[in-house]
Amino acid sequence: MTVGAGAAAFAMPGALWAALSGLNDDEIERRVQELLAQMTLHEKIEQMSGWLFRDFWQALGPKGKRYTGYTPANRRLGIPALKCVDGPRGVGLFYKTTCFPVGVARGASWDRGLEERVGQVMGYEAAALGMNMLLAPCINVVRHPSWGRAQESYGEDPCHLGRMGGGHVIGTQQHVMACAKHYAVNHLDQSRMFVNMIVDERTLREIYLPHFQACVAEGVASIMSAYNDVNGLLCGHNPHLLRDILKGEWGFQGFVVSDWINAVEDTTAAANAGLDVEMPRPEYFGRKLERAVKKGRVAMEVINEAAGRVIRQKLRFAGEAKCDPARIAGPEHAALAREACAKGIVLLKNQGRVLPLDPARLKTLAVIGEFADQKNIGDVGSSMVTPPYVITPLAGTKERLGSAVTVIHAEGKDLEAARQAAAQADVAVVVVGLSSRDEGEGNDREDLNLPAEQEKLIQTVAQANPQCVVVLEGGGAITMQAWIDQVPAVLMAWYPGMEGGRGIADVLFGDVNPSGKLPVVFPQSLDQLFPFDNQAKTVECGYYHGYRYFDKQGLEPAFPFGFGLSYTTYQYSNLRLDQKTIGKSGKLTMQVDVTNTGERAGEEVVQLYVGYHGSKVDRSVKELKGFGRVALQPGETKTVTLELLARDLAYYDVDKKAWVVEEIEYLVSVGPSSRAEDLQLHETFRIAGA
Ligand code: GLC
Repeated sequence: MTVGAGAAAFAMPGALWAALSGLNDDEIERRVQELLAQMTLHEKIEQMSGWLFRDFWQALGPKGKRYTGYTPANRRLGIPALKCVDGPRGVGLFYKTTCFPVGVARGASWDRGLEERVGQVMGYEAAALGMNMLLAPCINVVRHPSWGRAQESYGEDPCHLGRMGGGHVIGTQQHVMACAKHYAVNHLDQSRMFVNMIVDERTLREIYLPHFQACVAEGVASIMSAYNDVNGLLCGHNPHLLRDILKGEWGFQGFVVSDWINAVEDTTAAANAGLDVEMPRPEYFGRKLERAVKKGRVAMEVINEAAGRVIRQKLRFAGEAKCDPARIAGPEHAALAREACAKGIVLLKNQGRVLPLDPARLKTLAVIGEFADQKNIGDVGSSMVTPPYVITPLAGTKERLGSAVTVIHAEGKDLEAARQAAAQADVAVVVVGLSSRDEGEGNDREDLNLPAEQEKLIQTVAQANPQCVVVLEGGGAITMQAWIDQVPAVLMAWYPGMEGGRGIADVLFGDVNPSGKLPVVFPQSLDQLFPFDNQAKTVECGYYHGYRYFDKQGLEPAFPFGFGLSYTTYQYSNLRLDQKTIGKSGKLTMQVDVTNTGERAGEEVVQLYVGYHGSKVDRSVKELKGFGRVALQPGETKTVTLELLARDLAYYDVDKKAWVVEEIEYLVSVGPSSRAEDLQLHETFRIAGA
């Protein structure tokens, strides 16, 4: 049974993808050239220039309709407008739409198929609202958990990011253009408008770009250039990023759109570097670009290429997507949000099998804490979504238990009231965590602990009732040293979306067996990490971060990358490779048997890591190179098959300016997390010859 392939291959994009418009690639190409031949310089530059009617966040197009970004239609030639809306959690801009769990929660599902379905719903709702581009997925590496927008991305690992982001692209682009962002090396927020990321070419290629290439390989229509500089050049002015790599080596067919305002600083530099569209208004393109062309500073070929890229994607997606506004945030889409919430929940601790809670054995349940009955769906920046409702954990719990169990609630500020509530209950559930006050766009985190009053609340409740379950909400790693040993059970629910209360109840009461795995390492403390300086004008981005950094430093995290428990247990056996030696352009097939050795059905995320024996260059101890989910009934055994491409094991040789697949021995390790004791099965193979 094949449940998951290896890392996204470094496949060069083939022909243009099936176009919604029904035109084939040749017909699209012919049409693009015909249109360019008829267009004036002004008309071509109109395609490249955002046209903001009003304030930053609510560009008003014709008839006062709101867009995040907009370029006008060309009625004379029948070229549609570009109508953009955020974002990675659902369609934003105050439209009442489905609010999904944040990206990192979906990243914790390690379920590419689920992400395709989420993308498809977001694309559907965007199209139903008259948009033709969704500004998602966000696939930046979570280099450090203090990054305020870590919640918007899927995690810290390039392979995982590429597979999840690629899934989102495939789903979204069933209806509208997707826009993978923010290209590239964007992982600080307060300093993003001025910081210069210094990154050597190998680190850039191997750590910060592969997931963007994976989205290009899936046919992403657009890439958004980031606010920061890379090696001294603003991303939107960076020909190495935009022309050499993205459009040159990768053969990207779509267009590069700038991030909003402040992401372009010079007309000629941006256009000649390969930026195709300035958003949200023509600060540097528009008339200034026309003047630059007339003065010979920007060649007409540059304009034709840029306008051609935009028109090409507009034609590709020009099909009249029949998307019914009545289905926006309806039961079907809400059910998917609930599924995504439950699948993204990570069971971090379950001492004495406190979980799942059995309603039949409960008389009184206490639900305590600041977020027990509060809407806490994540950042209020550009990724914000305004759902028609939010099911809180308290509401979801009450709905699940009905009248058979008495549910008491204490908001948590009054510690004595919380203590009493806990003391009189069979079980006490504490719902705490972070909120948009603590992290978000332009708001990086100072530290990784919970607010002190929440830590005190957990300790108070745990003393009053040892049957204490902590449910955490937030957008990334939280350090728990102050209280983790005092509680038997912990769930990480992230920002769970509009159906969060139901998804959390599904897991609390065992209707869903948790299968989530951490897509970011949870450190024991901040001082295990390298400094996070969001005031610095320059940041050196090293080759190591996340679990690779922990491995290299010999550090023990609180919870490792890929970690997550289940209400059942699994056994891995019989790891086998189809070959002991493959060529440099070869493919290896790995198979492993997984048995559900417990009493509950569940889904397991099988992870494949590779180590390098005798490499010529410094390498990580191990790198994630594939993963897949498998559903198992109690006692059932299935074979999981993962594929590994030799070229996915290459390192980038800066001197040769080429990827090098080494003819050495490789170690394959398979298991339920990146933790050494979880990777019990190993096999080696060699790469030799072509
Ligand atoms: C913001 C964000 C970007 C978003 C854009 C439009 O600055 O960086 O992710 O898509 O502006 O809102």
